[in-house]
Amino acid sequence: MSFHPKMPYGTGWHRSERKLAELGPEFAYTPENQARFDAIVKRYPPEHRRSAILPALHLVQAQQGYITGHAMTFVAGQIGCTPADVEDVVSYYTMFFTQPVGTYVLYVCRTLSCALCGAERLTEALEEKLGIRAGQTDATGTFTLLEVECLGACDRAPVVMVNDEWHECARPEDAAALVDALRERGTAALTGCHLCVERRNGQ
Ligand code: FES
Repeated sequence: MSFHPKMPYGTGWHRSERKLAELGPEFAYTPENQARFDAIVKRYPPEHRRSAILPALHLVQAQQGYITGHAMTFVAGQIGCTPADVEDVVSYYTMFFTQPVGTYVLYVCRTLSCALCGAERLTEALEEKLGIRAGQTDATGTFTLLEVECLGACDRAPVVMVNDEWHECARPEDAAALVDALRERGTAALTGCHLCVERRNGQ
């Protein structure tokens, strides 16, 4: 018996399959991040405070590495919205993580320009070097490898973003050396975005 003609009780149709994030440990910003958030939220009129959800979540991820249920509740309290509102944002954007990731997250662009210039071979070479598949984190927790869509530097394809830094013209044959260089020198090993480099050099 059901009051809805297409949704009989007992079938499970009415149950959401959505997986909620782990609650994790209690979360609060460090004093420095709280000060950053307070400065950010002043940029928005009070009636548009929700527009600060994205930067508020970036601060969480920079502080904790990923975003837990408790962190979403904390952000909701800072913004003045519901935890569900915050979770909607977290689950929409692929660059927010709800599970721990490696120290270095390697995002390999797989969209057209990069695909034509060997992105697939680049991913395969990184998989071979790291001993993982795209979507996984290595056993040491140092590297997470992901495939993503256009990173906005199509004229320097193939492009890999490592955390927040660009590495342009990334040839598959250089993949192993890139991983070694990241281990040795961190993100200083990356080419960076050519526009930032040219601006820095006054070109
Ligand atoms: S297609 Fe790879 S950066 Fe645009």
